[in-house]
Amino acid sequence: MKFTLALAANFLVGAAVAAPGPAKDCKESFGLEGFAKENPLGVTTGGKGGPTTTVTAAAALATAVLGKNPLTVVIKGDFDLPARLLVGSNKSLIGHGKGATITGKGVTIKAADNVIIQNLHIHDILDDDCITIHSSTRVWIDHNEFSSDIDGGPDKFDGQLDIIHASDFITVSWNYFHDHWKSSLVGNSDAYGDEDSGHLRVTYHHNHWNNMGTRGNAGRFGHQHLYNNFYNDFHYQAIHSRSNNQVLVEGNVFRGDTPEALSTYGLVIPMDSPNTSPDGDYEIDGFANLGAKNDFGRSGVNITQKGNFTKAPYKYKLTPLKSVEGLVKQGAGRGKI
Ligand SMILES: *[C@@H]1O[C@H](CO)[C@@H](O)[C@H](O)[C@H]1NC(C)=O
Ligand SMILES: *[C@@H]1O[C@H](CO)[C@@H](O)[C@H](O)[C@H]1NC(C)=O
Ligand SMILES: *[C@@H]1O[C@H](CO)[C@@H](O)[C@H](O)[C@H]1NC(C)=O
Repeated sequence: MKFTLALAANFLVGAAVAAPGPAKDCKESFGLEGFAKENPLGVTTGGKGGPTTTVTAAAALATAVLGKNPLTVVIKGDFDLPARLLVGSNKSLIGHGKGATITGKGVTIKAADNVIIQNLHIHDILDDDCITIHSSTRVWIDHNEFSSDIDGGPDKFDGQLDIIHASDFITVSWNYFHDHWKSSLVGNSDAYGDEDSGHLRVTYHHNHWNNMGTRGNAGRFGHQHLYNNFYNDFHYQAIHSRSNNQVLVEGNVFRGDTPEALSTYGLVIPMDSPNTSPDGDYEIDGFANLGAKNDFGRSGVNITQKGNFTKAPYKYKLTPLKSVEGLVKQGAGRGKI
């Protein structure tokens, strides 16, 4: 157990939870919550029910994650992947010990269902996103670290975690995203409204963002519930809800050089996509609702329209606002589970 009981006891139970009471230990605090848990397809279980295999080389890893049979793949060591890792359905990919590292090419979850990724450090991926979730359902991205460097500008690297093409029922929890420009894009074009609308339901909770540019997250056409995330030095824009997207934002803390915590104004700022128009691109606005109090610090908030995503359709534990920074800094990232 990595958490002290005092910290674990700092979890309170949100209004939506029937039986209140502090979490007994850190494992319980780290359990799956949100859209990947409570959805019409059932709880995300990854490789549960299947065998466990340990891999120590890239070729063995690529083979292990293929197919649809339930399998837990324990990843041990540092991997420089020669090609994107294509993960099939019913898989858990779990870094061994303090976490496995992946560089070279990143990870793609495409046309898959029921995948868990934990305890990896995915860094300096040049070809594409660190993780792309494409036309997939029930994915839990938990306790990973993502990093590169921010000095090369917005287009040197792509996203850290992009969720696209009508993917649905995703939970992104306790990850450490740092030193990177574009973090997490949900919905990759304003032209995909017909495909994406009604999907792209994502929960982001207890993530730590530090020294970032944009997209924490940026969303189009979906619904994202963001609670108890800690944002520090998010230099341009953190949460951006546009193209009819809806966000429910509660219990988050914003610090440092973070000029804009939340915007629903449709303009895609040039600091986000400088390759399109020097003035930015206009999309229609998104929606935002505020739930439990956030601490926006000195960061701006520009809510141009409130939506109807006022309540998450599941149970979840809210951390008291004053404990969010400490708890997230301590609990997020690899080597913690
Ligand atoms: C995942 O595994 C379950 C249980 O074995 C199976 O019923 C299901 O069809 C699998 N999913 C896919 C997409 O094959
Ligand atoms: C906030 O949104 C309005 C549109 O409603 C826009 O005119 C204004 O420039 C936005 N403010 C910022 C700081 O982007
Ligand atoms: C919620 O708002 C959106 C955007 O205005 C609208 O399309 C949708 O029908 C509304 N949903 C409900 C259940 O009212």
